[in-house]
Amino acid sequence: MNPKKMSGLNGCLVYGKNGMDEFRFIDRSGTNAEKYTLREKLFHTQEVQPLWVADMDIATPECVIHAVQKRLLHPILGYEIMSDSAYEAQIGWMREHQGFEIKREWLSYSPSVVASIGCAIRAFSEEGDEVIVMDPVYPPFYSMVKDNNRSLLLHPLKQDSAGIYRFDIERLRTQITPKTKLLLLCSPHNPIGRVWSRDELLALGTLCLEHGIRLISDEIHSDIVFAPHQHIPIASLSDELLNNTLTLIGPGKTFNMAGFSISTVCIVDETMRKHYEEEAHRVHFGDGAVLSHVAFETAYAEGGEWHQKLLEHLRVNASLIEAWVAEYPAIKFRPPEATYLAWLDCRALGLGDRELREFFVHKAGLGLSPGLSFGKEGSGFMRLNFAVPTSVLGDALDRLEKALND
Ligand SMILES: Cc1ncc(COP(=O)(O)O)c(C=O)c1O
Repeated sequence: MNPKKMSGLNGCLVYGKNGMDEFRFIDRSGTNAEKYTLREKLFHTQEVQPLWVADMDIATPECVIHAVQKRLLHPILGYEIMSDSAYEAQIGWMREHQGFEIKREWLSYSPSVVASIGCAIRAFSEEGDEVIVMDPVYPPFYSMVKDNNRSLLLHPLKQDSAGIYRFDIERLRTQITPKTKLLLLCSPHNPIGRVWSRDELLALGTLCLEHGIRLISDEIHSDIVFAPHQHIPIASLSDELLNNTLTLIGPGKTFNMAGFSISTVCIVDETMRKHYEEEAHRVHFGDGAVLSHVAFETAYAEGGEWHQKLLEHLRVNASLIEAWVAEYPAIKFRPPEATYLAWLDCRALGLGDRELREFFVHKAGLGLSPGLSFGKEGSGFMRLNFAVPTSVLGDALDRLEKALND
C-alpha cells in the first residue's frame, strides 16, 4: 500500500464528496484556538502544523450549534441552573453507551474535569498525603497533586513484549504507605491510549479497597473508544467500588466542545458527595453557563449519529498512521484502543528529547506534544493528535516523511 495515495484518497473521496462538513478543513485562524494561538509561545514559530492540544480540528456537531443559536434568539442570558433534563440526557447516554446506570442525585456540575480533580484531592486528602499517579499521564495529574501540596506516588507504566502498556499491581502494592490516600486513574488513558480491561480495573480497585485508598477516575476519553475495546467505568464493577469512586465525565472530548467548560462528577456515597460538594462550594463552582447547558443537553440527547461517524473517521486516520509507520520502522506506533492521540515511539531515531522536539518542529514543521511532558516514561515519544481531516493528517505524514528522508 502506498500511504501517500491512501491519504489523498481518504481526504477527498471518503469524506469530501460525501458532504460530511464536520471532517473538512476548517480554518481556525481568527478564533482564539489555543492549538494555533500558542504556537509561537510553545514552538517559537507560527510555521508548524499544530497537532498537540487535545481538541479536534473537526466541527462540533451541527445539532449543538443549532441549539445554541436557537437559545440566543431569547435576549436574556442571565444565571441559569443546569436542568434535570440536561442531567437526564447524560444519564441516558451513559446507560446506552457504557451500560452504566447513574442516578440523578449522584451527579453535580463542574466547569472542568481538571478542576474536579483538584477539588477531590483537597476534599479527600491532607497536605503531605500521597496520591498515586501513573507515569506517563496527562500533565495536570502531576500539577494538581503538587500544587495542592500533596506528594506524588509515581507508578511507571511499562510496555509488555507486545508493546501494550501495563501497570504492575504487585509493585504498586509495595509502593503504598499509610500516607497513600488517593489513586488518580486515567481511564481510558491519555497519552498511551489504553482501555483498561475488567481484570485490570478489578485488580486496581481491589487494591484500593484493601488499603482505604479512594479512586478518582478521569473518564473524559471514555466515548472515543474503538471496537472491539469497550470502556468499563471502574465504579460499575461492584457496590464497593461504586461507593469508593468519583467518576469524572463530560462531553468536551466526545463532541469537541471543550470550549463550553462543562462536565460532571458522579459520586454515589452520600458522605463522600457532601464532602466533595463542600469543597466545590468553597471555590464556588456554581452551576455553569446558559449556552453550555444547552450544548451539553443537545450533544448527549442528539449527538449519537455524529459520534458514530466521528469514530469511523478517527479509525481511518489511525489506520493511515499505521500504514505510514509500516514503511518507517524508526517510528513505532500501536493504534490506540481509545482517544484520538497517537503515541509515537521515536526512540529508534536515537535523538535526545530536546533534539527530537527540534526535529519535529524545525525539520518537519509539526507541533506535537513531547513525550517527556507526560512524565519520565514518555522520554523518546511524541504525541500526535490525529483528530483532523484525513487530508491534513496525510499532509503531516508527508512532512514527516520528507524530514526523515532528508
Ligand atoms: C485525561 C484528561 N482529563 C482532563 C482533560 C481536560 O478536561 P477539562 O477541559 O474538562 O478540564 C483532558 C484534556 O486533554 C484529558 O486528556
